Parts: sequence; C-alpha cells; structure tokens
Amino acid sequence: MGEFRNPQAPGAGRGIVIHGAQWGDEGKGKIVDLLTESAKAVVRFQGGNNAGHTLVVGGEKTVLHLLPSGILHDGKACLIGNGVVLDPEVLCREMDTLAQKGIDVSPERLVISKKTHVIMPYHRLLDGARETLRAGSKIGTTGRGIGPCYEDKMARIGIRAGDFADPELLAKKIAQALVEKNTLFTKLYEIPALDPGAVAEGLAPVAKRLLPYLGDVSSIIQKTLASGDVLFEGAQGTHLDIDHGTYPFVTSSNTVSGQAAAGSGCSPDVLSRVVAVVKAYTTRVGSGPFPTELFGTVGDYLQEKGGEFGATTGRKRRCGWLDLVLLRESARLSGPTDIALTKLDVLSGLFEIKICIGYRYKGKIYEYPPQEEGALEFVEPIYETMPGWEEDITGITAWEDLPLAAREYVSRIEQSLKTTCSILSVGPDRRQTIIRG
Ligand code: GTP
Repeated sequence: MGEFRNPQAPGAGRGIVIHGAQWGDEGKGKIVDLLTESAKAVVRFQGGNNAGHTLVVGGEKTVLHLLPSGILHDGKACLIGNGVVLDPEVLCREMDTLAQKGIDVSPERLVISKKTHVIMPYHRLLDGARETLRAGSKIGTTGRGIGPCYEDKMARIGIRAGDFADPELLAKKIAQALVEKNTLFTKLYEIPALDPGAVAEGLAPVAKRLLPYLGDVSSIIQKTLASGDVLFEGAQGTHLDIDHGTYPFVTSSNTVSGQAAAGSGCSPDVLSRVVAVVKAYTTRVGSGPFPTELFGTVGDYLQEKGGEFGATTGRKRRCGWLDLVLLRESARLSGPTDIALTKLDVLSGLFEIKICIGYRYKGKIYEYPPQEEGALEFVEPIYETMPGWEEDITGITAWEDLPLAAREYVSRIEQSLKTTCSILSVGPDRRQTIIRG
C-alpha cells in the first residue's frame, strides 16, 4: 500500500474534487479559486482549452482556458494531468499573459504530465472541417481540436507531452499520425495535405520551451497528499460527459468526479470530498436537448443578468429553470459530499421561480432522466413554483441575512438532492460568498 493511501496518517491531506453538475459554466472557476486557499496543489484532469474559467479577484478579471485556476495563488503547485489534452501554443500564450501580470508560472510550480496528449495543428483542422461538413447537425464543438486529439489518444497514435524530449520519436509519430489524416484532408475535406516535417518544425520551439515543465504528476500528487490537500479541478459539466451526458451533444472526455482519479494518476480513495458546483438555474451552450429551456422574457432576463456568454467562445448561453432531475443523476454519478450553489443573485427580482422536480415521458413520471439517446428532447418537465424575492443579495455574506424565499429555494434543492449547499455564491467576486459551516 502506498504511503498516500493512508488518509488517517497525521497531517495527511484530502483529495477534493470540484466538478460541474450541469452543462458546464456553473462558475467552477470561482469555487476552485476559493478552495485553493487551503490546498497545496490544484490539478486539471480532463478537457482542454475548451474550458474557460473566469476569475474575478479584487475586481480584476482573468480568464483561464488551460492553466489550473490555482495559478493566481502564490506558492500553490499547478498540475496538468494525463486526462487533459494540451494545446502547447495556447498554454504558452496563457503563461505569457499571466507572467505579464507578475504571476509566477515557473516550472517550480507548474508541472505537465508526460502522459498528457498534445493537440496538434491537424487536430484543429479536422475539427473545423468536420463541423463545417456537418452543416445542419452541428455538435457545437469549439473547433479547437480537442475531440480529434482524444480520438488519436484512443487510436493509439497520439503525441504525448513526454515525446517533446525526443525530437526523432516526435517526427516519426507525427508522420504516422498524418498518413490517414492527409488522405482525409485531400479526398474528403478538400484541404491541402500537411507536410510532417513542417509540422514537427512548427512544434519544436514550444516543445523546447515546455520541456522543463514536464514531470510525474501522479508522484507529485502522492507526495503532496502526505501533508496537504489537493484540489482536482473539473471542466465542463456532468451532462456533457462523453458516456453519461446528452450524447452526442457532449464533450470528448469524462467529466464525472471519478475521472479525477484516472485523469491525474491517483487512486479513487483519496477523493474524500466531492463538491458539485450547481448554478441556481440552468444554462447550456450550443446544440442539444434542454428540457427546462426558457424562450420568453424570463430566459432573456437570466441571460442578460447572468451575463450568460461563453468565456471561451463568446457564444450566447441558452437559459432555463433549475432541473432537479438532471441534478439527481449528477449526484448519482459523482457522489457529491456538498454543493456549491452559484449565481443565486441572478434570480433576484423574479416574482416566482420554477424548479423542475420530475419529467413526464411516454405516460410515465421520471425522477431520473430516461436513458435512451435523445429521450430528453421529448420529456415534459414537471414544475413546482416557489415565491421569488426582490432584494439584491450581492452584498450578503451570512445565511440568516438572505431573504426567506431565497433560503427556502436553497433548502428545496438540498432536500431533493439530500446534500448540503455548503457554499452559496452571490456574485462573481471571492468576497461575494456565503460559507455555511
Ligand atoms: P467551464 O469550466 O467552462 O464550465 O467554466 P466555469 O464553470 O468556471 O464557468 P464560467 O467561468 O465560464 O462562468 C461563470 C461566470 O459567472 C463567470 O463570469 C463568473 O465570474 C461568474 N460568476 C461566478 N459565480 C457567480 C455568482 O455567484 N454570481 C454572478 N452574478 N456571477 C458569478
């Protein structure tokens, strides 16, 4: 048994997973940032630069796509796990932007797993070409090459960050990966074939720059846990999970809490706290079923008041009422120990608030989503109506000071999910948070 598998050891830390329980954009960035205070390291374990965490610290906004949100805290180790797909150019740009703001992004605190797969220019090309060809039935990918990179990983022809250390191997692997793709490019997508030598040459400068950052993330997590907490930072959300989400309108990785272990290199028993980040209403970017979607003035109200535009793509997010059916499934899949409920402030000013407590589908009532592909398209949400509240709650920092209707709304969620909302977020800033003991 390895030393870090003894959570009872004096001073031993905990693995804390923070994951999105809806369709992403729940405000995970802020929650990770909050919980980083007491952690020693922050790890990303899935996804790529399709994530976009917006952090507001002291009024200053920073958007991170690849770097763990913990980077804004001095002295915290930031780790990019094997489950991530890494666009090296995007990472270098993000590092430069942060360095200009005086943030330490040295290899002393930022480590990339040698097993992390690398997004190559041909992945981006393929992503864009496919989405164009899909025309009327777009998946809504961000076109950043993330899906094709995961495909190569599964096809066992992927480039991994560790390959940066061996230019010869790298060139060989690029040539191998391009055999099939060049045929696709020229025959199907009518784009010119790529020259493997030129691709390898193009990668060389960033590969060289990132070499000192490569390391054994699994071992760092093990050592860190011996004396402190490690945060596992999820991206996207449960219903975008490649297996459990609203397939095919999903992302290319597993987003459930269990992926924190596989995507970073630790055993699941170290994940002793799982924080589900839940937005107080529901949003979704791009295509795909959305049972509680609102099309009228209330939807517009949430969209505008909540600033519901994608941090990465700028796309307008679709908005709807909170859906407890989807959240029950999230809880079943990820086993949250507690909930961080975000954007409660956005609901202020609504006369009444609806909450979806079940679905009607093919003459039956469902407490959990029907599992057939596409079923969500046809379910009819069953709503409970609760009174709204008028007050602006963005300055409230104590549970007791929240309007009664807001407290009742939170309690209804807790009761339905049998989980406590330990963190309530009432604004984008770190200070706009109610922590319940
Ligand atoms: P993904 O990993 O892409 O899903 O991102 P995310 O879950 O971190 O969410 P994202 O940062 O894209 O969106 C959250 C937005 O809401 C950001 O602009 C935050 O600053 C903001 N935000 C977070 N919490 C609150 C809150 O409680 N109230 C309000 N009004 N805004 C919030």
